[in-house]
Amino acid sequence: MSLEQHVKDIVRQAVKDALKTKAFDHTNRRQLVIANWKMNMTLEKAVAFINQLETEQSPSDVVICPPYTLLYPLKALLNANKKSIGIGAQNLHTAHEGAHTGEISSEMLQDIGCEYVLVGHSERRAAGETDAMIHEKIKRALEKGLNPIICVGETIEQREQQLTNEVVNQQLLHALEGLQDVSSVIIAYEPVWAIGSGRSASPEDAQAVHEAIRKSIYTKYGSLANALPILYGGSVKPTNASALANMKDIDGFLVGGASLVADDFTQIVQACCKGMDR
Ligand code: PGA
Repeated sequence: MSLEQHVKDIVRQAVKDALKTKAFDHTNRRQLVIANWKMNMTLEKAVAFINQLETEQSPSDVVICPPYTLLYPLKALLNANKKSIGIGAQNLHTAHEGAHTGEISSEMLQDIGCEYVLVGHSERRAAGETDAMIHEKIKRALEKGLNPIICVGETIEQREQQLTNEVVNQQLLHALEGLQDVSSVIIAYEPVWAIGSGRSASPEDAQAVHEAIRKSIYTKYGSLANALPILYGGSVKPTNASALANMKDIDGFLVGGASLVADDFTQIVQACCKGMDR
C-alpha cells in the first residue's frame, strides 16, 4: 500500500470514529414505556388498573394508549390522582374534519388533552393502511402538537430474506418524507412476527435494527438522532424487558398484551429504569 493510500485510510477512519461518537451520544435520551391497550379494557377495569399501577418513582415517561372511549375519562382520572402518565390514541384520520363516519381527527384528540398518537401500527397496516396514509396522519398529528409514535417493522418472510433494514428504512423514509421538524416524533420498532406471538426479538437483533434506524435518522436529520427515542415492541414481558432495555439504542417499549396487567406493566417500567446505566 502506498504512503498516500495509508494516510487516506487513517484519515477516513478518524473521521468515521469522530462522526460515530458525535452522532450517537446515548447519555441524555428520554426513556418511555407506552401501553397499547388495543381493543381491550372497560372503564371499570381501567380504574382498577390505574389504582394498582406503581410507576411514580420511574425516571421513564409512561404513556397509556387506551381505546378512544377511555381517553377522556382516563385523562380526568390521572389528573385527579396527580399521576404523571401521558395519554395517547391508537389511531387518527388523515383528514382535518368532515364526512368520515366513525373516524377521529387530530383536532379532536388535541381537544381532550391527548398528547400522543400511534401511527402505522402493523395491525392498522394489515387493515389496509398505506405508507401514504401513514405520512398524512403524521402530518395531522404534528400540526396539532401531538407526538406521533411511528410504528415500523418487518414480517417474518422479510426477515428470512434479510430485508429487515431495507423494509424498516423504507417505512421510515415514507413516513417522514419532506418533514423538517421531527423533534417530537417517537419511533417504535415492532417486528410483525413478534407482536402478540410470545416470541420477542433477541436483544442483539433488536439493537442491530435500532442502530440502523438511528443511523438513518442521522443521515437525514443529523444530531437529532441522539435525542429521538426508539422503542422496541413485540412480546415485551417482565422476563425479557431488562435485557432489551440494556441495549444502548433501545429507549423503552411499546407494550401490548403485558400492558393489560398492572403488575406486569409496573415490572416492565421498572426494568426499563434498570436499563438507564447502559
Ligand atoms: P404485544 O403487542 O406486546 O402484545 O406483542 C405489541 C404491540 O402490538 O404494540
